[in-house]
Amino acid sequence: MFVKKVKLDNFRNYSDKTVCFEEGLNVIVGPNATGKTNLLESVYMCGLGTSPRVSRDRDVIRWGEKGAYIHLELQKKFRAHTIDMYIDSREKKRVAIDGIPITRLAQLIGTLGIVFFSPDELKLVKDAPVERRHFMDISLSQQSAKYLFALSRYNAVLARRNKLLKTLTPGEDLKNSLSVWDVQLAKEGAQVIKARYDFTRELKKFAAQKHSVLSGGKESLSIEYESDCPDGAEADMADELTRKLFTGYEKDCALQYTTVGPHKDDIKITLDGVDVRKFGSQGQQRTAALSLKLAEISLFTDNMGEQPVLLLDDVLSELDERRRRTLLEETSNYQTLITCTEYSEGVAANVIKTGE
Ligand SMILES: Nc1ncnc2c1ncn2[C@@H]1O[C@H](COP(=O)(O)OP(=O)(O)O)[C@@H](O)[C@H]1O
Ligand SMILES: [Mg+2]
Repeated sequence: MFVKKVKLDNFRNYSDKTVCFEEGLNVIVGPNATGKTNLLESVYMCGLGTSPRVSRDRDVIRWGEKGAYIHLELQKKFRAHTIDMYIDSREKKRVAIDGIPITRLAQLIGTLGIVFFSPDELKLVKDAPVERRHFMDISLSQQSAKYLFALSRYNAVLARRNKLLKTLTPGEDLKNSLSVWDVQLAKEGAQVIKARYDFTRELKKFAAQKHSVLSGGKESLSIEYESDCPDGAEADMADELTRKLFTGYEKDCALQYTTVGPHKDDIKITLDGVDVRKFGSQGQQRTAALSLKLAEISLFTDNMGEQPVLLLDDVLSELDERRRRTLLEETSNYQTLITCTEYSEGVAANVIKTGE
């Protein structure tokens, strides 16, 4: 798929701006603070419903204005779509697909497939497990509405269970109340874990391949889903989770939150057998993160029969010459929107200038 056009009204520094994109490589080039990242952010929001940079929607509204409006035109394999998003300073934002308003943001996810990469994505390899779970959740949710719903049901039940652990004193009452939630928690949890095992297994092949290309065949990357709940049939995994929730009762009471389940899981990332999360150099971590993102594109394309749009914010300056070239060659197969302050790579591109 590819984004044909974005029209912005009072979004960040843009009062009224229309940008046309082409299939393949699009380079957004301009001095610092001229709205390059803002432009990517608007596309990201149409794909995932929220900003990658801020948690409050209203921060994207142009200062002093009441609301921001994004209109995006998208070409998929078999048909075109439009996405309209109105972000109001006082109300919930409103979204329409093909002119028809949606009632839940979840309905937007999956219309415009996005893979986003910025220097900040180093956290995917370096930071706490939550970053890697987030990576899996965003990627899986875009590929499967079923996953998105299982995950949100899981999170809702988990929140209720944690609240009970905080408010009730340990005893029969608490035990009985928890057991009501545990069956559902285990059922949704097993579905989430199962999907993530499959995702990681499929991603692993692509990630190894991308990393080999990016590192010039010098390093071998491997990933593994890390969970207390072993892979198996979904029903067995649900049973296992139920057992673990039961035996974890004392610990959960002491800590006042649920210590078992997919919200504790991680992806183990190794380079030549060494845990790159802890022991990788900055460069290795950066390359590993990029390999995972490129692998995500391949996986998305395989599963959806359609390529996502790749958003690359400021990544060229962070990479050496060979990695830069490899990245640009890799990205020539799908639509890529990339920002930089100078573009001199010599790879043909649709150039969009900001700050003029
Ligand atoms: N809500 C907003 N309203 C108006 N301008 C904004 C808003 N948020 C950010 N900006 C402006 O946008 C500019 C930064 O844009 P950004 O896209 O991050 O720049 P860059 O081209 O370096 O990626 C800053 O100059 C900032 O003042
Ligand atoms: Mg920027």
